[in-house]
Amino acid sequence: MQRIFSGVQPTGNLHLGNYLGAIRNWVRLQNDYECIFCMVDLHAITVWQEPDQLRSNTREVAAAMIASGVDPENNIIFNQSQVPQHAELAWIFNCVARLGWLDRMTQFKEKAGKDKERASVGLYAYPNLMAADILVYKATHVPVGEDQKQHLELCRDIAQKFNHDYEEDFFPIVEPLIFGEATRVMSLRDGTSKMSKSDASDASRINMTDDVDTITKKIRRARTDAEPLPMEVAGLKGRAEAANLVGIYAALNDSSSAQVLAEFGGQGFGVFKPALADLAVDKLATIQDEMRRLMADPAHVDGIIRSGAEKARAIAEPILREVHNKIGILQP
Ligand code: TRP
Repeated sequence: MQRIFSGVQPTGNLHLGNYLGAIRNWVRLQNDYECIFCMVDLHAITVWQEPDQLRSNTREVAAAMIASGVDPENNIIFNQSQVPQHAELAWIFNCVARLGWLDRMTQFKEKAGKDKERASVGLYAYPNLMAADILVYKATHVPVGEDQKQHLELCRDIAQKFNHDYEEDFFPIVEPLIFGEATRVMSLRDGTSKMSKSDASDASRINMTDDVDTITKKIRRARTDAEPLPMEVAGLKGRAEAANLVGIYAALNDSSSAQVLAEFGGQGFGVFKPALADLAVDKLATIQDEMRRLMADPAHVDGIIRSGAEKARAIAEPILREVHNKIGILQP
């Protein structure tokens, strides 16, 4: 069975974009792959995190995965820091990757902003740690959104250089798994920017913890244009907000934008928005209830995470030992 690794940053405010773009897909993968899902706390602290928040956000991500249907018995759910092999391999990759490779990373440029002198060194080396996350398990497939493709390319470059320097075919050359519709859920206030936990406007996103009223209100107030929905997908061109809402409906309903338009084409948002709100509430309610139940018992969640980490360490330890051997590091 092929092995999947995926990571999500425990930085709070899990929203519909995280659910439809990542977590929901993971639920589907668990039957076909050996899955390792990780809350990447070491990536999170490349920018400032409040300690208490980081702890509870880490639990919240685990709770969201379990509540969404990822089975922690048959999969591995854990936080990165409990498996020290990630950080150890990342250091080795710091010595494999070239400065020129990292200089090209667009996410660093975006996150560092104008004043990159003040960005943490960790933020710069972030992609090397991500490569270590994946390769410390010799994972072959990584489900990611479009925005992480460049980092996966770097992971392939690192694997290739390591293989070339020490031994052909030691690390696998990973393949991205990119999903179909609505993997990119956009802001409810601006159909051209991604739904994001860091957007100043809470109305721009549907949080996994929003209640029924809030979800309904946010969808009702979502930005749209004045036209009715088109009959065909081509008619969504240039209508980013309409396309986003149709895409969300399709994703929640396990259908396609074409199917949604077959039902709602020609109708106005006065009809479509309430239907979307009902669907969203219906699909999210059970997950939210289960998340609340789990979050009320943090010790239970911590136990699940600990046992996930144990399983992860059992895979990572021998692989890192092999790496040490290859590069000539003396071992106990
Ligand atoms: N960088 C990813 C993101 O922000 C999170 C991540 C860290 C990741 N390590 C990973 C994703 C390994 C896939 C595989 O979305």
